[in-house]
Amino acid sequence: NERSLILFKPDAVQRRLCGELLSRIEKRGLKIVGLKMLMVTKELSAQHYAEHVEKPFYPLLEEFITSGPVVALVVEGPEAISVMRTMMGSTNGRESDLGTIRGDFGLSRQMNLIHGSDGPEAAAREIPIYFRPEELIEYETTLAGWVCADDEK
Ligand code: GTP
Ligand code: MG
Repeated sequence: NERSLILFKPDAVQRRLCGELLSRIEKRGLKIVGLKMLMVTKELSAQHYAEHVEKPFYPLLEEFITSGPVVALVVEGPEAISVMRTMMGSTNGRESDLGTIRGDFGLSRQMNLIHGSDGPEAAAREIPIYFRPEELIEYETTLAGWVCADDEK
Protein backbone atom coordinates (compact mmCIF):
# COMPACT_ATOMS: atom_id res chain seq x y z
CA ASN A 1 0.00 0.00 0.00
CA GLU A 2 1.04 3.55 -0.73
CA ARG A 3 0.05 6.91 0.71
CA SER A 4 -0.41 10.13 -1.27
CA LEU A 5 -0.85 13.73 -0.15
CA ILE A 6 -3.91 15.28 -1.78
CA LEU A 7 -5.09 18.90 -1.64
CA PHE A 8 -8.47 20.19 -2.69
CA LYS A 9 -7.28 23.58 -3.87
CA PRO A 10 -9.04 26.89 -3.07
CA ASP A 11 -11.09 26.73 -6.30
CA ALA A 12 -12.53 23.35 -5.29
CA VAL A 13 -13.59 24.74 -1.90
CA GLN A 14 -15.03 27.93 -3.44
CA ARG A 15 -16.93 25.95 -6.07
CA ARG A 16 -18.40 23.55 -3.47
CA LEU A 17 -16.76 20.59 -5.18
CA CYS A 18 -15.09 19.02 -2.12
CA GLY A 19 -17.89 16.49 -1.63
CA GLU A 20 -17.76 15.49 -5.28
CA LEU A 21 -13.99 15.02 -5.20
CA LEU A 22 -14.02 13.14 -1.88
CA SER A 23 -16.83 10.95 -3.18
CA ARG A 24 -14.81 9.95 -6.24
CA ILE A 25 -11.82 9.05 -4.07
CA GLU A 26 -13.94 7.00 -1.67
CA LYS A 27 -15.86 5.22 -4.40
CA ARG A 28 -12.60 4.24 -6.08
CA GLY A 29 -11.73 2.32 -2.93
CA LEU A 30 -8.95 4.47 -1.50
CA LYS A 31 -8.91 4.87 2.27
CA ILE A 32 -8.82 8.29 3.93
CA VAL A 33 -6.22 8.23 6.70
CA GLY A 34 -5.94 12.00 7.29
CA LEU A 35 -8.22 14.97 6.60
CA LYS A 36 -8.18 18.67 7.55
CA MET A 37 -9.01 22.15 6.32
CA LEU A 38 -6.36 24.86 6.50
CA MET A 39 -5.08 28.06 4.97
CA VAL A 40 -1.85 27.66 3.01
CA THR A 41 0.53 30.43 4.09
CA LYS A 42 3.21 31.87 1.81
CA GLU A 43 5.80 29.89 3.76
CA LEU A 44 3.85 26.65 3.37
CA SER A 45 3.34 27.33 -0.33
CA ALA A 46 7.09 27.80 -0.86
CA GLN A 47 7.78 24.58 1.03
CA HIS A 48 5.19 22.55 -0.85
CA TYR A 49 6.00 24.00 -4.28
CA ALA A 50 9.77 24.22 -3.74
CA GLU A 51 10.38 22.89 -7.27
CA HIS A 52 8.38 25.81 -8.73
CA VAL A 53 9.50 28.75 -6.56
CA GLU A 54 11.90 30.04 -9.21
CA LYS A 55 9.46 29.63 -12.11
CA PRO A 56 7.86 32.67 -13.75
CA PHE A 57 4.35 31.51 -12.83
CA TYR A 58 5.16 31.06 -9.13
CA PRO A 59 3.80 34.47 -7.97
CA LEU A 60 0.43 33.64 -9.53
CA LEU A 61 0.49 30.11 -8.10
CA GLU A 62 1.30 31.49 -4.64
CA GLU A 63 -1.50 34.06 -4.87
CA PHE A 64 -3.94 31.32 -5.88
CA ILE A 65 -2.98 28.64 -3.36
CA THR A 66 -3.01 31.14 -0.44
CA SER A 67 -6.28 32.79 -1.54
CA GLY A 68 -8.65 30.67 0.54
CA PRO A 69 -8.92 27.47 2.53
CA VAL A 70 -7.79 24.12 1.14
CA VAL A 71 -8.65 20.61 2.25
CA ALA A 72 -5.64 18.35 2.80
CA LEU A 73 -5.95 14.59 2.79
CA VAL A 74 -3.75 11.55 2.97
CA VAL A 75 -5.19 8.65 1.02
CA GLU A 76 -3.97 5.08 1.20
CA GLY A 77 -4.31 2.13 -1.13
CA PRO A 78 -2.56 -0.06 -3.70
CA GLU A 79 -0.52 2.25 -5.97
CA ALA A 80 -2.43 5.18 -4.44
CA ILE A 81 -0.03 7.74 -5.94
CA SER A 82 -0.44 6.81 -9.60
CA VAL A 83 -4.12 5.91 -9.13
CA MET A 84 -4.73 9.45 -7.86
CA ARG A 85 -2.65 11.06 -10.66
CA THR A 86 -4.73 9.17 -13.23
CA MET A 87 -7.98 10.19 -11.53
CA MET A 88 -6.84 13.85 -11.47
CA GLY A 89 -6.00 14.11 -15.17
CA SER A 90 -3.32 16.31 -16.70
CA THR A 91 -2.33 19.69 -15.27
CA ASN A 92 -4.35 21.76 -17.74
CA GLY A 93 -8.09 21.14 -17.40
CA ARG A 94 -8.60 21.98 -21.08
CA GLU A 95 -6.32 19.11 -22.06
CA SER A 96 -7.50 16.62 -19.44
CA ASP A 97 -9.47 13.55 -20.47
CA LEU A 98 -13.17 13.43 -19.74
CA GLY A 99 -13.78 11.25 -16.71
CA THR A 100 -10.87 12.80 -14.83
CA ILE A 101 -11.43 15.38 -12.09
CA ARG A 102 -9.67 18.16 -13.99
CA GLY A 103 -11.23 17.14 -17.30
CA ASP A 104 -14.75 17.01 -15.91
CA PHE A 105 -14.71 20.18 -13.80
CA GLY A 106 -12.05 22.54 -15.11
CA LEU A 107 -10.84 24.76 -17.91
CA SER A 108 -7.73 26.13 -16.23
CA ARG A 109 -4.05 25.22 -16.00
CA GLN A 110 -3.63 27.04 -12.69
CA MET A 111 -7.01 26.56 -11.04
CA ASN A 112 -7.07 22.82 -11.51
CA LEU A 113 -8.90 21.87 -8.33
CA ILE A 114 -6.66 19.19 -6.88
CA HIS A 115 -3.06 18.37 -6.05
CA GLY A 116 -1.67 14.87 -5.72
CA SER A 117 1.89 13.77 -4.95
CA ASP A 118 3.67 12.88 -8.21
CA GLY A 119 5.79 10.02 -6.84
CA PRO A 120 6.83 8.15 -3.69
CA GLU A 121 9.58 10.66 -2.85
CA ALA A 122 7.18 13.58 -3.25
CA ALA A 123 4.60 11.86 -1.05
CA ALA A 124 7.20 11.18 1.66
CA ARG A 125 8.23 14.85 1.54
CA GLU A 126 4.73 16.36 1.33
CA ILE A 127 2.78 14.32 3.90
CA PRO A 128 4.79 15.64 6.91
CA ILE A 129 4.38 19.22 5.62
CA TYR A 130 0.63 18.94 6.28
CA PHE A 131 0.20 16.23 8.91
CA ARG A 132 1.82 15.31 12.21
CA PRO A 133 2.21 11.52 12.62
CA GLU A 134 -0.58 11.34 15.22
CA GLU A 135 -2.99 13.00 12.78
CA LEU A 136 -2.76 10.00 10.44
CA ILE A 137 -5.04 7.23 11.58
CA GLU A 138 -4.41 3.57 10.96
CA TYR A 139 -7.59 1.55 10.92
CA GLU A 140 -9.14 -1.41 9.16
CA THR A 141 -12.31 -1.29 7.12
CA THR A 142 -14.52 -4.31 6.67
CA LEU A 143 -14.70 -3.44 2.96
CA ALA A 144 -10.95 -3.82 2.47
CA GLY A 145 -11.27 -7.45 1.44
CA TRP A 146 -13.55 -6.43 -1.44
CA VAL A 147 -11.37 -3.64 -2.82
CA CYS A 148 -8.48 -5.81 -3.96
CA ALA A 149 -6.96 -9.23 -3.40
CA ASP A 150 -4.40 -9.94 -0.69
CA ASP A 151 -1.52 -10.12 -3.20
CA GLU A 152 -2.32 -6.61 -4.48
CA LYS A 153 -2.07 -4.85 -1.12
P1 GTP B 1 0.12 19.64 -8.66
O1 GTP B 1 -0.52 18.32 -8.32
O2 GTP B 1 -0.59 20.82 -8.07
O3 GTP B 1 1.62 19.64 -8.35
O4 GTP B 1 -0.08 19.78 -10.24
P2 GTP B 1 0.77 19.11 -11.41
O5 GTP B 1 1.79 18.18 -10.84
O6 GTP B 1 -0.20 18.58 -12.41
O7 GTP B 1 1.47 20.38 -12.05
P3 GTP B 1 2.88 21.04 -11.69
O8 GTP B 1 3.54 20.40 -10.51
O9 GTP B 1 3.64 21.18 -12.96
O10 GTP B 1 2.42 22.52 -11.28
C1 GTP B 1 1.95 22.77 -9.95
C2 GTP B 1 0.75 23.67 -10.03
O11 GTP B 1 1.16 24.95 -10.47
C3 GTP B 1 -0.31 23.26 -11.05
O12 GTP B 1 -1.20 22.30 -10.56
C4 GTP B 1 -1.00 24.56 -11.31
O13 GTP B 1 -1.91 24.89 -10.27
C5 GTP B 1 0.17 25.54 -11.30
N1 GTP B 1 0.76 25.75 -12.62
C6 GTP B 1 1.49 24.89 -13.37
N2 GTP B 1 1.91 25.44 -14.50
C7 GTP B 1 1.43 26.71 -14.49
C8 GTP B 1 1.54 27.82 -15.39
O14 GTP B 1 2.16 27.74 -16.45
N3 GTP B 1 0.91 28.97 -15.01
C9 GTP B 1 0.23 29.09 -13.83
N4 GTP B 1 -0.36 30.26 -13.52
N5 GTP B 1 0.12 28.08 -12.96
C10 GTP B 1 0.70 26.91 -13.28
MG1 MG C 1 3.19 18.71 -9.31
